Amino acid sequence: MEFKDKVVYQIYPKSFCDANGDGWGDLRGITEKLDYLADLGVDYLWLTPFMVSPQKDNGYDVADYCAIDARFGTMADFTELVHEAKKRHIGLMLDMVFNHTSTEHRWFQRALAGDEKYQAYYVFRDGTPDKPPFDCTSVFGGPAWEYVPQLGKWYLHCFERSQADLDWENPDVREELKEVIRFWRDKGVAGFRFDVINLISKPQARTARGTVDLKSFMDGPRVHEYIKELTRDTGLADLLTVGEMSGTTIPACVRYADPAEKELSMCFHFHHLKVDYAPGNKWQRQPADIGALKKILQAWQLAMQEHGSWDAVFWCNHDQPRVVSRFGDEGRYWRTSAKMLGLAIHFLRGTPYIYQGEELGMMNAGFTAIEQYNDVESRNAYAAMRQQGLSDRAALAALAFRSRDNSRTPMQWEDGPHDGFSLVDPWLAMGRHQEITAAAEQKDRQSVFHWYQQLIRLRKQKKAIASGRIRFLYADVPDLLAYQRSDEETAAQITVLCNFSAQPLRVPDDWTGWQLLLDSASEPLKETCPLVLRPFEGIALEK
Ligand code: GLC
Repeated sequence: MEFKDKVVYQIYPKSFCDANGDGWGDLRGITEKLDYLADLGVDYLWLTPFMVSPQKDNGYDVADYCAIDARFGTMADFTELVHEAKKRHIGLMLDMVFNHTSTEHRWFQRALAGDEKYQAYYVFRDGTPDKPPFDCTSVFGGPAWEYVPQLGKWYLHCFERSQADLDWENPDVREELKEVIRFWRDKGVAGFRFDVINLISKPQARTARGTVDLKSFMDGPRVHEYIKELTRDTGLADLLTVGEMSGTTIPACVRYADPAEKELSMCFHFHHLKVDYAPGNKWQRQPADIGALKKILQAWQLAMQEHGSWDAVFWCNHDQPRVVSRFGDEGRYWRTSAKMLGLAIHFLRGTPYIYQGEELGMMNAGFTAIEQYNDVESRNAYAAMRQQGLSDRAALAALAFRSRDNSRTPMQWEDGPHDGFSLVDPWLAMGRHQEITAAAEQKDRQSVFHWYQQLIRLRKQKKAIASGRIRFLYADVPDLLAYQRSDEETAAQITVLCNFSAQPLRVPDDWTGWQLLLDSASEPLKETCPLVLRPFEGIALEK
């Protein structure tokens, strides 16, 4: 399947567009906005989960994989969405949360009722309430085990206690999950995103004692085998697939995304998004280490290229703060930096993912009170920080830069109440900069929206961007991300030069003879010799 010139747009349905006026985005809202998405030019929409769920983790706690939560709409709405999207040459990708189910899932409920067949779907271990099978901290804080008194057993949950881990060692579990894929395939879905899929093989969870680091579950012994089996038995090779890989390694991802291995089209990995907090503590902010960012991007890109594997490239998603607030500038250089960051990602070797609102340069939420937060991880982290003695102010400051709710505030469509997202109060407060709207940016040729539109268009026009080779330049200039793409057939070359600092930056070498293809600054550069980038300016040169 050929997808190198395609771009994926991620939708967080709950915050995208509310068509039925209940403060909660829905499938019909997405259908209403398809013309906007077609105008932007994206090829696929990845929708985060809208299946039946108690919403303890905003849909990543699925209670029924094949039924739509009524708050998002009906199966008829979904069929219409697929149909209308197809008309605009847009495919839908669904989010499959296969590492765990909600404890409200029928399987888990049967397990709780004593059905051994279903207990074997999960990781249950006998024990007494005073001591879990082993000590392990879950991703969202607190122990990764929960005791069920009526069974005299503990069950494992790598995430929230209402997200019970499935046991992939059990072939019945694997067969059930294949059925889910077939179900959605038959509805016309064009691809899938697999949630934390590198956590599925953890045989030691059944036997280990003492203390276990959750990290030891990542990229487990049978993970490649399981993914291959899923792909083979459900015909996934004809669709676009991306696996979310938590705490993974380059060799593991090279393999997941190697076409010869027939596992996945590409992977998400996150090392480049850990350069602005203390190692192992995402709530402890540090100035972004752009040198480290450059090294990480380079190492991954070159390794993937060397093995013919394909990458997913992105800054933003529903778990990450807004990139312009993070590596860009929210003030004076807001627009220049938002565009520069878009360019930095889009011309890399891989499939770019845009998260809703990123194409407008949306910023972090700017919440100032704990009551404004909805996210379970943020709330837990706040409680933990307070318990550790941090002041209310300090804990809120940590959330304000790191919380997942920073990116989950409703999409900003147009002037008016709730920025046109909904007619009533939305489920999560609007972000602070409500003047940034899709309608305003669609009208303005200089906008971040038009810039993203151009980035997408250029990928389709220029083979160097879609499939050219990549090499990196100026490893020793700390704030300058610089790389070159080249198409071997036509010898066309594109150089990307991005200034990640608020200072002017002199780019070494003589760039005469290169044409300016893109410039993120409001006034295009006048000369390329000497080439001095202005604060947060990103340019693409062509030859
Ligand atoms: C993934 C999702 C995240 C969710 C977690 C547990 O990381 O992106 O939102 O909380 O998995 O399913």
